[in-house]
Amino acid sequence: MTRLYHISDIHVASKYFQPQLMEQLVDEVNRERPDLLVISGDLTDRGLAYEYEEAARWTGRFEVPMLVTPGNHDSRNVGYVHFEELYGSRYRVVRLPGVHIVAADSSEPDLDEGRIGRSIYPWLHEALDSAAEGDLKVFVTHHHLLPVPGAGRERNILQDAGDLLKVLVDHGVELVLNGHKHVPWVWRFEEMLIVNAGTATTNRLRGKGRPSFAIIDLTDEAITVRHKYYDGSEDTLHHPLKRRTPA
Ligand SMILES: [Fe+2]
Ligand SMILES: [Fe+2]
Repeated sequence: MTRLYHISDIHVASKYFQPQLMEQLVDEVNRERPDLLVISGDLTDRGLAYEYEEAARWTGRFEVPMLVTPGNHDSRNVGYVHFEELYGSRYRVVRLPGVHIVAADSSEPDLDEGRIGRSIYPWLHEALDSAAEGDLKVFVTHHHLLPVPGAGRERNILQDAGDLLKVLVDHGVELVLNGHKHVPWVWRFEEMLIVNAGTATTNRLRGKGRPSFAIIDLTDEAITVRHKYYDGSEDTLHHPLKRRTPA
């Protein structure tokens, strides 16, 4: 089994940031030791140098492998420069035993709208093609691939969501991880599970939303997603996999 912790939208240095939740999260991740911690963007509020320094101080306390992708807030004020310095490329492939993870930046400098962009598709095809036979494929990006309830008038979906959905479905991607609108949610689309993480550490919440993060267990047979809240309660979804048998 592979265990991912999926956290998003920590927005350090913002007035919404709750350091006591971040402390709790750091403790839990270091105690539970997942195979990978995925942070799907919006680590900062305005992409400023001092915010990135604070983000790096916090994320530097995680004692597990991390995959970090930027969000729209991180790309404000040329913030992607700091992002690359601290977290590496905005386009990444991470391989775990039996799991192939591709992450792409969906943010555009100083825009809240997201898109992958035409020029990235050749890389994306190659990155997905490089998975080993039988690997479970995961794709990570900040903006929504599908709309989620309670996220307001729709302007959060990737501008090229249709093109991206087709690429992901064609490549047999089983799991997509998004952040952005602070709403924990899961959609099933074709054979794919699309997980939206809530905001892990802020009180920038819609309606009666609560801060949360996701714990995702991957096996050959199923994906189990748990959206976990800080009082210990969880919403769980178990998704059996229809694995394609190799020809
Ligand atoms: Fe956010
Ligand atoms: Fe965002």
